[in-house]
Amino acid sequence: MKNIAVYPGSFDPCTNGHLDIIERASSIFDEVIVAILINSKKTPVFSIDERKMMLETATAGLSNVRVDFFDGLLVNYMKKVSAKVVVRGLRATSDFEYEFQMALMNKKLYCDIETVFMTTSSENFFLSSSVIKEIAGYGGKIDGLVPPSVKDFIINKIIAQEGDYGCTRID
Ligand code: COA
Repeated sequence: MKNIAVYPGSFDPCTNGHLDIIERASSIFDEVIVAILINSKKTPVFSIDERKMMLETATAGLSNVRVDFFDGLLVNYMKKVSAKVVVRGLRATSDFEYEFQMALMNKKLYCDIETVFMTTSSENFFLSSSVIKEIAGYGGKIDGLVPPSVKDFIINKIIAQEGDYGCTRID
């Protein structure tokens, strides 16, 4: 039986922090499904199709990784794809309380699943999708913070969105 792990998140947009977790998870599990949450509570900058395209481009070299999306409860999605492991990255102690609660609640909802936490590499410790959007929105450089294959797509989309506010690109 294949050991399938699901790495869920918003990925708005994906960062090097996410990619680091995906790469490391792909070396441990038979298959990793990167599952983008369709979250009606958040107003994403990037559409589901754009986020899927960015993740597929960034993970193109990883043959056991595929990208999908879901709405509703994560546990229902896990059942649908026959996965028993949730992968989450832990950046700092501030992530812990939220992640701990989510892992316990998911276990309560579906006792067969386990959450595996991977510590984020030190160079990505300070990264988040919001920080990327803020830097790019003010024209700052995001080199080394997001996968190179999707960097320009991210910048162009954010600049196009913020163009009305006089945002300029600094190269
Ligand atoms: N490196 C860098 N940044 C990281 C990171 C890493 N390794 N891991 C997370 N982040 C950042 C993200 O960029 C994001 O930044 P932002 O807040 O600036 O956008 C932030 O951490 C949190 O993002 P994410 O990992 O996408 O979590 P989320 O809170 O958006 O989504 C789900 C978490 C999808 C797992 C959760 O909401 C879920 O399962 N929802 C489905 C409904 C459900 O089942 N609910 C019951 C759960 S108990």
